Amino acid sequence: MKQFTGISALYFIFFLSVIFLTSSQSTEYPVDYEQLGKEERIVIRFSHVVGEDTPKGMAARKFAELVKERSNGLIEVQVFSNGTLYKDGEEMNALSRGDIQMIAPAISKLTDIVPEISVFDLPFAFNSLDEVHEYALSDIGEKLTNRLKNHNLLVAGLWDSGFKQISNSIRPIEHYSDLEGLRIRIMPSDILTKQYETLNAETKRTDFVTVFNVLQNGNVDGHENTLTNITSKNLYSLQNYITISNHGYLGYLILFNYDFWNSLPEDVQQLLTKILQEVQEWEWQLTKEMDQEKLQEIQHCAIQLHTLSEEDKLEWEEKLQPVYDYYREHYSERFIDALPKFQN
Ligand code: LMR
Repeated sequence: MKQFTGISALYFIFFLSVIFLTSSQSTEYPVDYEQLGKEERIVIRFSHVVGEDTPKGMAARKFAELVKERSNGLIEVQVFSNGTLYKDGEEMNALSRGDIQMIAPAISKLTDIVPEISVFDLPFAFNSLDEVHEYALSDIGEKLTNRLKNHNLLVAGLWDSGFKQISNSIRPIEHYSDLEGLRIRIMPSDILTKQYETLNAETKRTDFVTVFNVLQNGNVDGHENTLTNITSKNLYSLQNYITISNHGYLGYLILFNYDFWNSLPEDVQQLLTKILQEVQEWEWQLTKEMDQEKLQEIQHCAIQLHTLSEEDKLEWEEKLQPVYDYYREHYSERFIDALPKFQN
């Protein structure tokens, strides 16, 4: 009997506690999207091939952070950098299959599906990044990039890597004739092949993740890339000479799988578009700053640096005229004619 009274008292206390706890809790629960199941959250897998410490790497992270913050965790952007998930040749297929939802490939890597887009690869086509942006955002620029829609790709922005420089391990490149006979790694683009063919150099197309190896084992003598890519992957440590030529643009189109984009609610599309706009502005500024920083950094390294003068550039440009003729003949006149440098 005594034992029974003890147990009843325990039950009574437990019962009171439950009443107290439930009555003291508000029925307005805060929303915690992190507790949603995978099928309730929107997950965007974003794969790219460069390092974290580059304009693209940093912009991808910033995009993910802003999306998480402004959607209260409803949308999660998972960033896979350094080609850890998919390499150059693989990411487009993965996007088409829907294994990932977003990529930001170099424009040169899209020239096999929309060859006319290689207008961005033409040597000395732009004098500044502002000119690139002006061209890309013009009616004709948008008509050009929107050709990717036919391939189930939505273009959601343009990020810069900057202008490319040329490095090699054989000799200083001061005159364009110094390139003769050198083996140069390039991105897959016919215009880039044509550019080096015109200068009597050989080209080799390889994925970005293999550039360090091909330079190290001597499969190529040199390559062209932006300073942030060159420094982030320590590529300059394998080369003796670098020429600051600023001869070609390297930038990225931000691409979504179109079916995935269309499956998103309208307010989510609006939120993502707004954030991407903000990140794009931020990335453009960051690229300019980082490029300057990396130039200073590289000036203190054991690599011999040569900078092309404005007169040299004009000479190179003239020599490279056949590349423009090739583009006009094979792709289109109007995308060349609309370049800012032919506007005045
Ligand atoms: C390269 O392959 O050199 C670049 O396109 C890498 C990148 O994405 O910037």
